[in-house]
Amino acid sequence: MAKAQTIEAGHGKDGVEARIRDLLSRMSIEEKVGQLNQVEGSAHDVVHALGADLRAGQIGSVINQVDPATVNELQRIAREESRLGIPLLIGRDVIHGFKTVAPIPLGQAATWNPDLVEACARMAGEEAAAAGVNWTFAPMIDICRDPRWGRIAESLGEDPVLTSILGAAMVRGFQGETLSDPTSLAACAKHFAGYGASEAGRDYNTTNLPENELRNVHLPPFRAAAEAGAASLMTSFSDIDGIPATANTLLLRDVLRGEWDYDGMVVSDWDAIKQLCTHGLTETEYEAAYQAAMAGVDMDMVASAYRNHLADLIACGRIELAVLDRMVANVLRMKFRLGLFDGRTTADAEPSRMASRSLAKQAALQSCVLLKNDHQTLPLDPTTLTRLAVIGPLADDPVEQLGTWIFDGDPERSVTPLAALESLAADTALSLHHVRALATTRSHDQSGFDEAEAAARDADAVLVFLGEEAILSGEAHCRADIDLPGAQVELVKRLKATGKPVIAVIQAGRPLTLASVLDHLDALLFAWHPGSLGGAAIADLLFGRACPSGKLPVSFPKMVGQIPVYYGHKNTGRPPSPDTIIHIDDIQAGAAQTSLGMTAFHLDAGYEPLFRFGFGLSYTSFAYSGLILGSEAIAPDETLTVQVDVTNTGEVAGEEVVQLYLRDRFGSVTRPVRELKAFARVALEPGETRQVRFELTVEDLAFYKRNQTRGAETGAFDVWVGGDSAADLHAEFALTEDSVALP
Ligand code: NOJ
Repeated sequence: MAKAQTIEAGHGKDGVEARIRDLLSRMSIEEKVGQLNQVEGSAHDVVHALGADLRAGQIGSVINQVDPATVNELQRIAREESRLGIPLLIGRDVIHGFKTVAPIPLGQAATWNPDLVEACARMAGEEAAAAGVNWTFAPMIDICRDPRWGRIAESLGEDPVLTSILGAAMVRGFQGETLSDPTSLAACAKHFAGYGASEAGRDYNTTNLPENELRNVHLPPFRAAAEAGAASLMTSFSDIDGIPATANTLLLRDVLRGEWDYDGMVVSDWDAIKQLCTHGLTETEYEAAYQAAMAGVDMDMVASAYRNHLADLIACGRIELAVLDRMVANVLRMKFRLGLFDGRTTADAEPSRMASRSLAKQAALQSCVLLKNDHQTLPLDPTTLTRLAVIGPLADDPVEQLGTWIFDGDPERSVTPLAALESLAADTALSLHHVRALATTRSHDQSGFDEAEAAARDADAVLVFLGEEAILSGEAHCRADIDLPGAQVELVKRLKATGKPVIAVIQAGRPLTLASVLDHLDALLFAWHPGSLGGAAIADLLFGRACPSGKLPVSFPKMVGQIPVYYGHKNTGRPPSPDTIIHIDDIQAGAAQTSLGMTAFHLDAGYEPLFRFGFGLSYTSFAYSGLILGSEAIAPDETLTVQVDVTNTGEVAGEEVVQLYLRDRFGSVTRPVRELKAFARVALEPGETRQVRFELTVEDLAFYKRNQTRGAETGAFDVWVGGDSAADLHAEFALTEDSVALP
């Protein structure tokens, strides 16, 4: 891959480097250390509280202040009253929106639409820039294959290629055409690296990733973000193979700076330098500061460990001045790139609210995944229905639909499903009967069920809004049981017993185990936490004003014990198949040990997920045909074209996400049974056929080999193209020789 891209700065790369050198030559050690110090700034009296340190050049960045007047005053003090006038980085977690909220990142990933994802990041960035923020801690591009982990909500799912493409789109969105534009934010790709593999899906927990898996699965999105110009990276809280990421020289020095030549800035996560002591890596905070600095962490997020110890570490010679200068240069470079030294001011006004609303709705529309639709229960026809029961704790909750990380989200901008359904029904004879039934998704109190059941009996169809409140996912919000919480399953059973069609809309921050409820539903729309305009999008989808087109960016397990279950697994020496598995209920008494298939499956769950990666239904249907490869064999310097015809075989217009998967049959390390390599979202009218073409290069065939170098190996490859990860339209080709080692 190409080396990390350089971000255009106001005065070109050389000019910026010269200005950095000039500044460094004029800074005292204390002022240099000050640049590496990020402090918390949400307190009311923050200007007073931080004033003295700002004037003394002791602060490089403030996190969590979003009042524009306060931010401007902090910047003014830094610029006008400190000796060298170095402006501040103003950091904030602007994850999937600021005031107007787009779907959670996992929902955005279900759109498989990089342009839309980029536009959502742009919208969030523009709104936040109007508050004085110039640095966001996004995108989060941790690969996550464990839905117990609450932070899966912030992730882009289980797949390295989907995450790489969408993560890079987010970087472009936040950073805009130039970082120095006052509406652009510096992005921060996080959490470097391996955080998504926290053991047992418990946040902050240990990760154990072999280097080959780390390189092939977890690092590619970070490289893609670096190549998209991400101005900064954040280290992970967790330890990886015994070394906390915040002191990890393999990650920060060898890979990031060495192999990728990254020239952006690295920030620790919150207090993570101090936590090196809690991890048991270092005995003292002094030693923690030493290890983090030597590994390559440039900025200390709120731990004050650098502030307390770096000057001493320099004075005693344990850290060379050149190391400190490099760290400071990385911080200053980001400030130059942001245009902060060149008169960048807080953007004047928020972007148009109408445009943000329409974008947030578009994203929500494309993020919802139709998981079940028996007998074409959906879409509903508001002109033939007369009464609709609208039940459940999430039908009318303007806050919960926003999801995790919405510090600044404005619930007043929310359109709930009930509000949107009411406005759609306003011009029809349809009447809605809303019963909340459960106070929260976690509630076990069934006293509202009688009323819900009566409303269902009285209706033509039942819409039930279930899921998880926002607080049940996100940082530190992990669950060991990922069924619908509280008495929601009982509620569904009561509704189903009325004999009326039951349509569930689930809003949640993670895949849930839905096996216990699925049989009681006629249709199921999975909406993630869909954001401000989620309700409007859901209503349009339910009434057929829009056609569902979201596809799962992560597998849904049948039961928790299957985790991790993901499509890109290895084959094993004993792969399971329908013929080799047996269910626990079917084992004969006294069966011989070797009669049970002897392959890699669970006796009670088989080996497949409940819903596979890439899956999602539509109100129309698509057929794939005419898969043609440009060649049966290619050399490493050649491109392989793959073309396929996709036809809308149904009655309504729809969009399909066409997915291309590869399998490298043999390798010097074992290879996944399938890997997503390319995808395209295509819109098709009924009866329309479009030819979709993909081009594969050696980059798509390459992987980290046994010796941890990257390249493609000669041999046979399978190609499948279709609408999900079980696509069966197949072709094959060969790579005629090994590639050279790729950078
Ligand atoms: C801790 C989280 O892990 C990180 O993602 C976030 O950006 C920081 N806190 C700052 O809020």
